Amino acid sequence: MYKPIKACLFDLDGVLVDTAKYHFIAWKRLAESLGIEFTEHDNEQLKGVSRVESLEYILRKGKVQLSQAEKIDLMDTKNTWYLELVATMHPDDLLPNVWKFLSELKSNGVKIGLGSSSKNAQIILDKTNITPFFDTVVDGRHVTFSKPHPEVFVKGAAQLNVQPHETIVFEDAASGIEAALAGGFYTIGLGDANILRAAHLVIPSLQHLNYTQLLTLPFLENSNSKA
Ligand code: BG6
Ligand code: MG
Repeated sequence: MYKPIKACLFDLDGVLVDTAKYHFIAWKRLAESLGIEFTEHDNEQLKGVSRVESLEYILRKGKVQLSQAEKIDLMDTKNTWYLELVATMHPDDLLPNVWKFLSELKSNGVKIGLGSSSKNAQIILDKTNITPFFDTVVDGRHVTFSKPHPEVFVKGAAQLNVQPHETIVFEDAASGIEAALAGGFYTIGLGDANILRAAHLVIPSLQHLNYTQLLTLPFLENSNSKA
């Protein structure tokens, strides 16, 4: 017997769209403008993490101390550069299989929610034409605590009226997997198994999953559950 899944909660950046690369470009540009080196490794630490905590990480790395007003200016600058990159996005920028997978969930009555740390999430959902798939959107504008705190997913499940143990969270960030596990959710990591090893399952991308497979995932067998 497999546990029935009533809902799926998706992270946005790096799961549905490849915007992680735009965050990287914009943070690198900002860090280097301050004389601070910013590597792929640094970027990995910032995945899933809020804008303000990302800036604090970079300033800590560079041992730079700034006033609150200066920090706000820098976050605005980074976001302007990020939005310049996002401005060119369109439905073709969805990662492979995303449209098909969301369609399959929708037509089989599985509820769909977004659980993103980004305050820009709605713009990206609109630009890629996937807003109508979502029964709820919880993003950086609606939460007090950033991942790895479970708030964003707990809120999403509550708004969908489902329990965490009936819900799978899809994440590309270690902080996101940690957040979902802390909330008692099933988790599928998308990306590198070394980075996402805490997840119930890790696959390279949503290209490797369809609705039929979702119903019979090994971790949904009653005897074998972390959730
Ligand atoms: C997350 C990204 O989805 O959103 C992080 O993984 C990003 O890299 C965070 O910092 C906040 O995004 P934004 O768009 O509000 O600056
Ligand atoms: Mg992400």
